[in-house]
Amino acid sequence: MDLSTLLFEQKKNYAIVTINRPDKLNALNNTVLTELKQVFSNLSVLDEIRCVIVTGAGAKSFVAGADIAEINKLDVPQAKVFAEFGQSVFSLIEEMNKPVIAAINGFALGGGAELAWSCHIRICSENALFGQPEVDLGLIPGYGGTQRLPRLISSSLAAQLLLTGEKIDAQKALALGLVNNVFKPEELLPKAEELADKISAKPALAVQNILKALSSTRQTGLNEGLAIEALLFSLTCGSDDFHEGTKAFLEKRKAAFKHK
Ligand code: COA
Repeated sequence: MDLSTLLFEQKKNYAIVTINRPDKLNALNNTVLTELKQVFSNLSVLDEIRCVIVTGAGAKSFVAGADIAEINKLDVPQAKVFAEFGQSVFSLIEEMNKPVIAAINGFALGGGAELAWSCHIRICSENALFGQPEVDLGLIPGYGGTQRLPRLISSSLAAQLLLTGEKIDAQKALALGLVNNVFKPEELLPKAEELADKISAKPALAVQNILKALSSTRQTGLNEGLAIEALLFSLTCGSDDFHEGTKAFLEKRKAAFKHK
């Protein structure tokens, strides 16, 4: 892949996608979003990649938001296209058929926070800082912040964060369940890789179907979600790995999954 704003690295059975504009604190311009769309679309059909890590280049920032220099030029019709494009990229990530881990290494503001909210698993470094400061620019979030944040924390706190632009640090994000763990900056990527490696070893069809079932919790009511779970459960029982996993348990040995 020919990329100018992202770094892409494949390691064993997982990939690391690094947003690489450190001089602009990895702000999301049109090129970054276009390349994210390209990379995630490609990754979705690569069977050998079973987990993806997203992070930001440099020690200071995950992503400090959408690129304000681009936003500044938008008129009303262009702004709609702009928001819909960013939303489509983050929805692609949220609906990926392989787990996406956000390794949040500093500022996660505006579009950076929205990118984090669209990932399946979030871990961060001690210097992470989260916020939706769009209101201070005379704006509102346009890449899903008003929709995903209230689904992750209380609607009251989401309203306060969106309306005041207040930022929250790593420990507060941990207490709120917005991130699973907080690590020293130098430990963040190794820990993300450890997790990606662990998930990559799990049977791929079961992992994919867990993601589909989780997706249904965002899209449906309980009864419809339970019907989807039952269907996915039955389909998973048709896989070679299901037969191997259950047989290995009964034979008291480690399963040898083939991801089929
Ligand atoms: N869009 C475009 N450029 C951005 C940016 C953004 N969202 N965030 C940071 N940058 C650029 C700065 O303009 C600066 O570029 P320059 O060196 O060419 O002037 C560079 O990144 C470094 O940022 P700077 O502000 O000097 O770093 P800082 O450590 O003093 O402050 C922040 C860091 C994150 C507090 C500050 O950059 C900031 O508030 N950024 C905007 C956050 C925001 O509102 N995001 C939502 C956007 S919708």
